Amino acid sequence: MVYDTEQEQFWAGEFGDAYIERNRSESLLASNLAFFSKVLSKIPSVSSVLELGANIGMNLHAIHLLSPQARIGAVEINEKAVRELNKHNWLNVYHQSILEFSSVETWDLVFTKGVLIHLSPDKLPSIYDLLFKLSNRYILFCEYYNPTPLEVNYRGYSNRLFKRDFAGEILDRRMDLTLLDYGFVYHRDNSFPQDDMTWFLLGKR
Ligand SMILES: C[S@@+](CC[C@H](N)C(=O)[O-])C[C@H]1O[C@@H](n2cnc3c(N)ncnc32)[C@H](O)[C@@H]1O
Repeated sequence: MVYDTEQEQFWAGEFGDAYIERNRSESLLASNLAFFSKVLSKIPSVSSVLELGANIGMNLHAIHLLSPQARIGAVEINEKAVRELNKHNWLNVYHQSILEFSSVETWDLVFTKGVLIHLSPDKLPSIYDLLFKLSNRYILFCEYYNPTPLEVNYRGYSNRLFKRDFAGEILDRRMDLTLLDYGFVYHRDNSFPQDDMTWFLLGKR
């Protein structure tokens, strides 16, 4: 499969395959349970959730455990990861690039976690519009923050990791979105660490 951007090619290929084993961990599932129980308790009426860039579903497993009745969807570019996602009958899987994804369906909560940082920055405006369209109530970003756009080396690769103020950018673009909450999870948290992640919960007015 040939994709438009070098970043998509990277995640669809061998690097993305190898990432799967680094991502599979019981302690990460525990941290995700702690994180999503906090987020979901702020928005208790959510009954459908879509993750863009779900990998093998470490976040969605936690969400399914916390919200077993919720309709859950996953968009993922990497074929090996999709094979793992397809093992779960509670999950609707879309084997597609986010850059090509479209749907007439909408979800109460649409989120990304460690994914916007890896997309081609010039595609972000259309991705913000897509997220807005796919969500009928809430958008959650869990990414690496920097006040101004910054490219950093990622495991020896350049042009693969970009930090910025993703939430600020979508808020500037969509006046009908509002900031509901935000926070930081430290990699040295004593109980439930995450990878120095900043998160922003946005709501549609
Ligand atoms: C750093 S991982 C994060 C995985 C997951 N969100 C988590 O928190 O465990 C990035 C994921 O996004 C996927 N991805 C990257 N670019 C994508 C794209 N353009 N479309 C769909 N998935 C993509 C990768 O294959 C990988 O599974």
